[in-house]
Amino acid sequence: MNNILITGGCGFIGSNFIRYLLANSNYRVVNLDCLTYAGNLENLISVETNPKYKFFKGNICDSSLVSEIIKNEKIDCIINFAAESHVDRSILDASIFVQTNVLGTQTLLESARKTEIKRYIQISTDEVYGSLGAEGYFTETTPIAPNSPYSASKAGGDLLVRSYVETYNFPALIMRCSNNYGPFQFPEKFIPLIIANALNDKAIPLYGDGLNIRDWIFVEDFCRAIHCVLEKGRIGEVYNVGGNSEKNNKELVKIILERLNKPESLVTKVTDRLGHDRRYAIDYSKINQELGWEPLCKFEEGIQQTIDWYVNNKQWINNVCSQRYLDYYARNYKGLEK
Ligand code: NAD
Ligand code: TYD
Repeated sequence: MNNILITGGCGFIGSNFIRYLLANSNYRVVNLDCLTYAGNLENLISVETNPKYKFFKGNICDSSLVSEIIKNEKIDCIINFAAESHVDRSILDASIFVQTNVLGTQTLLESARKTEIKRYIQISTDEVYGSLGAEGYFTETTPIAPNSPYSASKAGGDLLVRSYVETYNFPALIMRCSNNYGPFQFPEKFIPLIIANALNDKAIPLYGDGLNIRDWIFVEDFCRAIHCVLEKGRIGEVYNVGGNSEKNNKELVKIILERLNKPESLVTKVTDRLGHDRRYAIDYSKINQELGWEPLCKFEEGIQQTIDWYVNNKQWINNVCSQRYLDYYARNYKGLEK
């Protein structure tokens, strides 16, 4: 049995991945998470007592803790999900993004390279490629050109990973995925924000003209892609992952409101995000051809499952969004009472 260290496992994608891996493999999972506002132990209640699961509260920037865990838990593989992940927050203050996404990644790499780690996967984002016009797709050879402090910090992490592969022959891979959606996503990101606000008949802030495009992928499809790369990905490679499901923000809100039977009048146009990337779209032919992965969940099915989950887990939304956070969020981001 392999021992895998998942960092940031209490967040959205990390918690979905831990549940997926425990259900679909024989790995023993060690989760290191410092529990920021986006990390919630509640996301992993269903596996808390699983003998193949162990949690450590701690920061990836703490090199002695990271080294101790790798040694004591006999870690073979690491997947780094830990990050500050929200573009709007990075525009307000980039410092914690640089700390976690750049320095934290370097700390993990440095601790890991001194051990016998077999595989390290850096969970990155298509946002490192910048923005597309109406045509074209990001491939793994698209030059990196991040536009937000968030994507710049993720690109910094990616470049450090690359340098460790080249310099130390470190067995790392990078995955760059498009926008995920699904259960357990913190309601600062657009899809859960639309659902949470609509359920409470609150205004839904739509940035700018609402025509920015994202390529949406159901989180379980991304979890399958990570598992694939964990088992079969080639060391030193970058793999792009996408959902084959481009939507602009206006149509996305419309679809969700229709399904919730809520009026479009909830949508409120607000000032555009600074440096707002126009379009992301992924060419995932490399992972498809090399590893046989493709997205399986159609957007119509994934969004219904997601809506149903939030409708059935209203208490989760209340629990993760403390009033202090919501006040701060409303004050700083939207000019809206939420
Ligand atoms: P999230 O914000 O929901 O979760 C991040 C988790 O990391 C939280 O549990 C948080 O407590 C933890 N964390 C933050 N800083 C930490 C630190 N210094 N030490 C230890 N733990 C720390 O993020 P997510 O949406 O689950 O994203 C996970 C990863 O996937 C990130 O690296 C993100 O850049 C990447 N990604 C996300 C998306 C998306 O659509 N959500 C798309 C592509 C890539
Ligand atoms: P988001 O979920 O923050 O993901 P990212 O910026 O990393 O792609 O935003 C998705 C899209 O939705 C993006 O074009 C910005 C837009 N958006 C809004 O229009 N209103 C909102 O309140 C938020 C959070 C996002």
